[in-house]
Amino acid sequence: LKTSSTVNLISGFFVISPQKSAKMRLRLAGAVLLSAAAYYVYLPLPSGVSEPWKLMLLDALFRSFMQASDVAHTLGVCHRVHLLNRIVSWVEEIEARSCTAVHVADSTLGGVPTRVFQPKGGKQLKRGVIYFHGGGWVLGSGRMRSYDLLCRKMAEELDSVIMSVDYRLAPEAVFPDQYHDALAASRAFLSAQVLERYSIDPERVCVSGDSAGGNLAAAVAQELSSDDSLTAKFKVQALIYPVLQALDFYTPSYQQNRAVPILYRPVMARFWLQYLGADMSLEPLLLANNHSSLDQPAISGSTRSKLDWTALLPAERKKHFRPVVKETGSPGVMGKVPQLMDVRAAPLLAEQGVLGRTPKAYVMTCEFDVLRDDGLMYVRRLQSAGVAVTSDHYEDGFHGCMVFAYLPMMSSVGQRSMNNYIHWLDQNL
Ligand SMILES: *[C@@H]1O[C@H](CO)[C@@H](O)[C@H](O)[C@H]1NC(C)=O
Repeated sequence: LKTSSTVNLISGFFVISPQKSAKMRLRLAGAVLLSAAAYYVYLPLPSGVSEPWKLMLLDALFRSFMQASDVAHTLGVCHRVHLLNRIVSWVEEIEARSCTAVHVADSTLGGVPTRVFQPKGGKQLKRGVIYFHGGGWVLGSGRMRSYDLLCRKMAEELDSVIMSVDYRLAPEAVFPDQYHDALAASRAFLSAQVLERYSIDPERVCVSGDSAGGNLAAAVAQELSSDDSLTAKFKVQALIYPVLQALDFYTPSYQQNRAVPILYRPVMARFWLQYLGADMSLEPLLLANNHSSLDQPAISGSTRSKLDWTALLPAERKKHFRPVVKETGSPGVMGKVPQLMDVRAAPLLAEQGVLGRTPKAYVMTCEFDVLRDDGLMYVRRLQSAGVAVTSDHYEDGFHGCMVFAYLPMMSSVGQRSMNNYIHWLDQNL
């Protein structure tokens, strides 16, 4: 009797009743999971970045997608990019659905799939914007919720027709496919036939895009402004944190923001290699600036001056950073990947004369973005070429913020920048 009551006492005290123990275990598991999640999400961020916790959450989301894709890739289930794209489209893609103010339909432009947003009311003759989404030439789609919402808002607030182009993506398509798609869609957009069909004013058309889409927009603007066969020309170009060069991975912004989400420095190098159809094993070489060492005969002094940030950036962006220019590097690489020097891939390398013919520009840059200096150097070079430029810099901005103005972690700098972008278009288009 004594033993049994002792056992009872002990079980009452330590072992606990089955229900109680289940609850405790749940709580313990919850606490472990929470701290694991906090550990996974937490990231030391530079002070000054807008709403750091939201950026951390966004980053954790991206990282988990990337890691899931890496696991699938390693297990041989599928290519990491395909899984990543599938996850993104599953989470993000939405049907073309019209609303009271905007008619939305999926169509094609010059043979390239395109989502078209047409305001229902408003003026007879509309303004027009062709838009290229971001995603490192590898990811994304104009059918994603974030881009759909952006274009819908633009169509409504600007009373403009917006055409969001789904150019082909890597690894299936590599440079110059993406560029050719962007160009073909833009030529079709500027044709009398399309402008008439959508009631677009040929005098008020814009080319725009963010990140890799900003790269395509800048490249297309250069090509088409020098093409005299076109009857309609772009009135403005609006580039949102564009990527414009692949020769210097040590600009002050690459150095300062190498570990700032969501566009980490090595991720950008990988995007470049995938876009250019180059061997992915070249990543460390690129990250060492070995491809732009002084012993590369293919890179002339004049080319170097086009991205010489020591001359092109204002002092407040150069800060304490030093250029990284190797005396000797990996000389064979320019022969293997000559696309690194192709101005259609790297619009910052354009000649002054070409830049001077491009339309009035809006360039958005973010302080916490490896691509900040690509954009700021382009601003400076466009200005020197005589182009009117609005340089819209966000001291608390991070790469991608404008498009993340809608996600659950709706960002304040995202909304601010989106409103300013649309306002600029309203005033200048
Ligand atoms: C960069 O170039 C140097 C000099 O040729 C070489 O020693 C080094 O291994 C290269 N680094 C990479 C990552 O290729």
